Amino acid sequence: MSSQAGLKVLVSRAELKSTVDKLAADITRDYHDKNPLLLGILKGVFVFMSDLVRRLDFPLEIEFVRLSSYSSGRETSGNVKMVQGLEMDIKDRHVLVVEDIIDTGTSLASLLDYLKKKKPASLKLCALTDKPSRRRIPLKIDYLGLTVPDKFLVGYGLDCDQKYRNLPDICVLEE
Ligand code: IMP
Ligand code: MG
Repeated sequence: MSSQAGLKVLVSRAELKSTVDKLAADITRDYHDKNPLLLGILKGVFVFMSDLVRRLDFPLEIEFVRLSSYSSGRETSGNVKMVQGLEMDIKDRHVLVVEDIIDTGTSLASLLDYLKKKKPASLKLCALTDKPSRRRIPLKIDYLGLTVPDKFLVGYGLDCDQKYRNLPDICVLEE
C-alpha cells in the first residue's frame, strides 16, 4: 500500500530492484567493452536510469533528450515534440536508448528514426516497462524489464500531470 489515497502498488520497490539487476546484468554482458552511450528519455526515466547506471561497472557515457507528447493528463496527443534535443555527436557510437514505459510507441518510433539518421554504430532499446496492448507502432525492445497491464501507472519516475514521480513503487492510479 502507498500512504497516498487512490494508489495501489503494482510493482513493489523490491521487484523493481530485481528487475533492474537483471537488466543491468544483460546490458553488462553485451556492452562492457563498447563504451556505450546510454540515452535516457526525460523526464520519466530519471529514477530508473539512475538506478540502472549505478549497477553498470564499466566505462559508459550518459546523455538525455526530452520528449513531450502528453500535453496533459493521460492520453498521448500523438504529436511528439523534442523539447530538449541531443547535444552530442552519436556517429559510430553504440547507443542504448533507455525509456521508462512504452505505450503506443509513438514517441520512441519518432526518436529512433531521428537517431538512425545520425549513423550510430548500433542502436538498441531498453525499457523498464511495456504496455503491449496499447501499441500503435511496432517496436523491438532489446532489453525489457516488465510487461504491465493497460492501466495508468505512476511512481518510480512516472507521472500524472507531473505528480507522483517520487513514489518508490510503481502504482496504479485508481479513478
Ligand atoms: P508512447 O509514445 O505512447 O509510447 O508514450 C510513451 C510515453 O508516455 C512514456 O515515455 C511516458 O512518458 C508516457 N506514459 C505512457 N504510459 C504511461 C503511464 O501509464 N503512466 C505515466 N506515463 C505514461
Ligand atoms: Mg517517458
